Amino acid sequence: MSAFRDLRHYIDHITGTLGKDEVLRIDGADRDLDIGGITELMAEKEGPALMFDNIPGFPAGYRVFTNFMGTAARTAVALGLPPETGKLDIVREWKDLSKRLEPIPPVEVATGPVLENVLVGDDVDLGIFPAPQWHDGDGGRYIGTACMVITRDPDSGWVNVGTYRACVQGRDRLSLWMLGNRHAKAIAEKYWQRGLNCPIAVVVGQDPILSTAAAIAAPSGMSEYDLAGGLRGQGVEVLYAPGSDLPVPAYAEIVIEGELPPVEEESVLEG
Ligand SMILES: Cc1cc2nc3c(=O)[nH]c(=O)nc-3n(C[C@H](O)[C@H](O)[C@H](O)COP(=O)(O)O)c2cc1C
Repeated sequence: MSAFRDLRHYIDHITGTLGKDEVLRIDGADRDLDIGGITELMAEKEGPALMFDNIPGFPAGYRVFTNFMGTAARTAVALGLPPETGKLDIVREWKDLSKRLEPIPPVEVATGPVLENVLVGDDVDLGIFPAPQWHDGDGGRYIGTACMVITRDPDSGWVNVGTYRACVQGRDRLSLWMLGNRHAKAIAEKYWQRGLNCPIAVVVGQDPILSTAAAIAAPSGMSEYDLAGGLRGQGVEVLYAPGSDLPVPAYAEIVIEGELPPVEEESVLEG
């Protein structure tokens, strides 16, 4: 079991248990291609996690954290296993864990650090964040890579969490790329059939158990929040986001709330 309350707690934990070199701080890397290129190199080398700060054009503290589970040791620690667990044993443990996992529903809290800075209406500007162009030839800058996209089924109330890439398209515009069988797409279609936009929240910067759970293809009707709770051994602390009323992790770094209009009404090229 691993019980990191948030990404900061995980970072403290890996530097505390695996050594301070486990996270390499890099100042001055450009968000266009530098961050992506350095991350790719370090991922290939099974190098440290990377904390980019002082990104040109952005204030200090507007950071990008990458390669967070880029080694067997970091993956093991993220999943609550001993750091020395080998790669094959991690796979064995994961298979075993998925068979005996008992889902635990999230715990609602009234407030949390994610509400420390809230921007609404004309004040919204996604351009304040150093979203990188990760690769040469990418069709834009992606703020959401290992993100969590939250939607709620309008009939049953089931809350789905999935990872779908999110590209910044303007001050208050984000595009999401979802393959045809993705649950958020099926949920959005229910709203669209009723002539409504689909409320949506995109979470950027959460602990690695939430990132892992978001990418699990849980059956329709089962919330990945409950799986994350089972993996943690305690319910994820969530609060109801003020704009969308969707449950979001109280300790997330960034939550972007909005609405997903029908594809025929608004869609953009990305990729
Ligand atoms: C890092 C990462 C990025 C992903 N990006 C996408 C994506 O852009 N679009 C997509 O449809 N699936 C993507 N996936 C896969 C989905 O997150 C995964 O299939 C998940 O189960 C979907 O959730 P759902 O079953 O609730 O729809 C990604 C997975 C990971 C781990």
